[in-house]
Order: sequence, then structure tokens, then C-alpha cells
Amino acid sequence: MASIPNEFIESLLDRIDIHDVVGARVQLKKAGKDYSGLCPFHAENTPSFTVSQQKQFYHCFGCGKNGSAIGFLMEYEGLDFIDAIKDLAQLAGMQVPSIDNYAGQKPKTNLFAVTEKTTRIFQQQLKTSPQIIEYLKNRGLCGQTCKTFQLGYALNEWDALLKRFDQSEHDLLKRTGLSTQNDQQHTYDKFRNRLMFPIHDKRGRVIAFGGRAVEAEQKPKYLNSPETDLFHKSNELYGLHLARKHSNESFILVVEGYMDVIALHEHGVKNSVATLGTATSAQHISNLFKVWDRIVFCFDGDSAGIQAAEKALSTALPLYLDNKIIDFLFLPQGEDPDSFIMKNGKESFDLKVDQATPLSDFLLQVISKGINTKSIDGKAQLHEKAKPYLNQLPKGAFKKMMTQQISQVSGMMLSIKDQPKSQQSEVKPVTENPFRKLISLLLNSPHFCKNIPNDLNLHKLSFKGVEIIDKIVEIQRHNPQINAAAMLEHFRDSDYSPYLGQLMRMYDHLDDAEKALEFADIISYLQQLNSKAEIERLRNKQMESGLNSAEKQSLVQLLRQKTNQ
Ligand code: UTP
Ligand code: MN
Repeated sequence: MASIPNEFIESLLDRIDIHDVVGARVQLKKAGKDYSGLCPFHAENTPSFTVSQQKQFYHCFGCGKNGSAIGFLMEYEGLDFIDAIKDLAQLAGMQVPSIDNYAGQKPKTNLFAVTEKTTRIFQQQLKTSPQIIEYLKNRGLCGQTCKTFQLGYALNEWDALLKRFDQSEHDLLKRTGLSTQNDQQHTYDKFRNRLMFPIHDKRGRVIAFGGRAVEAEQKPKYLNSPETDLFHKSNELYGLHLARKHSNESFILVVEGYMDVIALHEHGVKNSVATLGTATSAQHISNLFKVWDRIVFCFDGDSAGIQAAEKALSTALPLYLDNKIIDFLFLPQGEDPDSFIMKNGKESFDLKVDQATPLSDFLLQVISKGINTKSIDGKAQLHEKAKPYLNQLPKGAFKKMMTQQISQVSGMMLSIKDQPKSQQSEVKPVTENPFRKLISLLLNSPHFCKNIPNDLNLHKLSFKGVEIIDKIVEIQRHNPQINAAAMLEHFRDSDYSPYLGQLMRMYDHLDDAEKALEFADIISYLQQLNSKAEIERLRNKQMESGLNSAEKQSLVQLLRQKTNQ
């Protein structure tokens, strides 16, 4: 999470020009209203990299990379967020507000000191716990592996950890989630009598802990740190700091558990990470693709595993670029990577990885599940079911091939829309996905926010992404002049960030007046949807319990409007 105030980021992005920042590093040529050049992030001979001054945004049609000037510097110079901001601020002659003193944003340095010290304490306690050492041995782990992962033990006492810290540091302990309070305001250690797994950020700093029960009756099996200033579960992956040391491996394995990562490591498979009890997020995938070109998702062969795989599939589709590979590895029923490799060894596991199901096959399986593709009905069903999946894929060879393959099986030509690439594409009818379009327009031209009619109740239409629109509107209200790139920066830490970057270019081929017309069309379409939903609600109520006179009047009015449209 950025610890620099949003207002500062907004005015910074307002002050600098992305054309200067990129132009100093990449040769740019004017192309229409934008600039283009050879993409610095992938090898190419014809330019597919564009920079928009209006949006203050860069985008590569070849590799899909996109973002603001901040994002560009991070990617190009390998800087972290704060350092990119500092560089840009210097360019703009602005003073970065002192990060440590910023109200409401307390320094993290002290928090890291607490988590690191705690890690050492837990490690020390493990050395003197024969029972825990025995447990780890039984699970097939050697001393070196335990050391590499900094495994430890939290004593079976209420305040063993608290006692190791000064009273003055107790607030910090609480802020790292290591101590907690009961209803009587009594503070005690969060982790007691547990095998402790420190969780590191990608730089290897300890940001949180997972604690495994060591006795059968202890619940839950795993207790994890809560969300804190240091720890945002859905952004982090267990073991990433170690796996990054093996970034020369051609792929990264994504598994489900702490013990899976550790057991694989024990057997020499050092390129794996685990999600932290959450589903794989878009953020996870795009972070991993920055380092590796192939992701192998590992799942149990049972129905829960397949369900999790389907979830990962749908998260991955929009991020599946032609130069990347995603495979799905299904283990035999009841096995996880830990038990599998302990039983069968590394070679068997490597073989499983080699035989993993390519995303294309798995996608076909998912689409054709429960459908008899031999029958005419089945072919039609397949055709319909495939559309939403294929629509999510980014434009490219893979999308084309998948579309062709499904057209072949179903015997019907699928017409799948592409994200409009550039000038050539025409506007698609609003009905195709009005919400994505609305989000795209609001990101592109935040000032449209004030033209959303007050009586347009988007929440009523219950669609995915309404909270994004709410947030955009809220941000624009605070800063009516905000530009597109600064708007996007507000979503940097959110799961949506990769989608939003893609949505940003949907209307590149329109000028401002055309965008305004498109916006008006979408709003009027949403208003129609809104009244349709209201008509339906009133009709249902009419059947069930009757309407009062105000409701009747409103229904008549709605129906009249409808016939006028
Ligand atoms: P598993 O139950 O598969 O555990 O949960 P595991 O990793 O195989 O552990 P062992 O082998 O039984 O020791 C997978 C992951 O889900 C999260 C943890 O991150 C765990 O590693 N989890 C599981 C929890 O957060 N809480 C729980 O109670 C259970
Ligand atoms: Mn396990």
C-alpha cells in the first residue's frame, strides 16, 4: 500500500508529462494524437508502444504492458513505487511529503523490526522444543530447510512474546497482529502453541505469520496474521522471496499450502509459491508474469481442487498474453504437492509438471463440461457457453486459435469481439457490456462522473464492478480535474488494476465528442435497464401482495415511458 498521500500523487502526475519521462528513454514519434515507438519491454521491429499525452498513459499492444509515468519508471528502471515517485518528484521540482511523518501513515521500519525480532524468538524457541523438532522430522524436513524458511515455535503461554518486548513496543506488536485484545481490553499473544511460518514480502522482509496447530484438538489448523499495514493477503505469495532466487527456472509453480512450498523445496523444487488461504488474484498472476513466463497451477484432483482451478482459470484469462504460458497440474485424489513428492520423489513430480494440462485444454474441458458435443443441441450450447470465456481473452494468436477450435467443434462460426486495438475498430453496441464500457469511459474522462444522473441506481443492477464506479466517482468528486493516469494510480494496489489498465484503451479510437455520445448512450441504456428491473419488481409485487396507489402510479408511468422508447 502506498504510504504517499494520494493528493501528492495526483498533483505529481498533473505536473509532469509522461512524454518527457518516456521520451528520455525511448525514441518516440508523433502518430496521430499520440506518440509511438519500439516497446522497451519486449523485442519488436515495428512499434506497438504508444504514449498518450492526453491520458498521461503508456500502452504496448504487443506485450500488454501499460500504466502511468510512475508505472513506466518502475518497470523500466526496476524501481519500487516510492523510489519512482521520488525520481519523478525531483524532475518536477516537488518535495515528497515526509513519508514517516504523514498523518495516519505510520512508518513501517519499526514494524519490520518487530516482525524480524519475533522471527528470531520463534526460531530460538523451536530449537528447545523436542516435540516440534520431532514433528518436523516426521514430516520429512531437514534442519537446513527449516532454517531457510525460518520456521519457529510459539510457546503455549498467553504472554511469552509480549514479555520479550518493552512496554513501549506493545503498540507495535499489536499493529503487526502479533498480539491481540479480548473484550476486557486484555492484551495477549495471538499465536500460542503453534509451529510458526514467517511470511516474507518479495524482498525477504517478514510481514506476517502463519501458525500451524501441533495438537489434534487445536483449531483452526492454521491461524494467520490479520491484514495489517505490512500484510495484504491477496497481494502476497508465500515463498516468493526464495522462488525469485530461481527466476532462471522457466516456470513458477503455484500451490495451496505453506507445507507444499516447503516440502517441494526439501526435494529440490525451489520455484514454488503458495497463495495464503485465498484464491489466486489477478495481482498475483501479473506479479508472477513479471518474473516468469510460465505459471503452473497445482491443484488436488478432487472436486474442490477442480473448482479452485476453474476460479484461477477465469482470473487468468484476461491476463493470458501470447508470450505467456499457463498450465494446470492436477494431482491424484487426496494428494497435495507435499504428500505427493514425499511419497513419489522429485522425478515423479517433475513428470507431473511436464504432463500438466495446458490452459487451452483445460478451457475446452470447462466449456464442454456436461455437454454432449456430438448432438446439435450440444453444439449450440457449446457455442453459447464459449462466448463469455473467449471474450475475456486479450487479442492475439491464442484467442484466434481458441475461437477457431471451438467454431470447429460446434460447427458454427463464433463472432468474438476484440478489445478495440486502434483507429480501425468501430464502436460496439452498448448492450455488449455496458459496465465495462462505463468504467472505461470514466477512467478515460473522469469528468464524465458528474454527468451520471442521480436517479441512476447502479447498485440495483447488481453487476460486477459497481464498486469500481463508486470509487471513481468518489475520487473525481475530491479532485474534479484529475487526469486518467492519476485516476488509475488510485487502483494500483487493487485486484482490478490489471483489468483497468486494459479497459483504459477501449475508446482510444474516439475523439472527445464521440466519447461523450457513447457515454450518453450507455447512460440511457442503463436507465432502461433500471426501469425494466423496477417494472419487474412492481409486477412481482402486484402478483404477490398487490400494489399501493403510489406504486401503481409508478408502474403505469414506467410502462408508458417504455412504450415511448
Ligand atoms: P491445507 O489444509 O491443505 O493445509 O490448507 P496444508 O498446507 O496441506 O498443511 P498440512 O499439510 O496439513 O500441514 C492449505 C492452505 O490453506 C490455508 C493455509 O495457508 C494452508 O497452507 N489454511 C488452511 C488456513 O489459512 N487456515 C486453515 O485452517 C487451513
Ligand atoms: Mn498438506
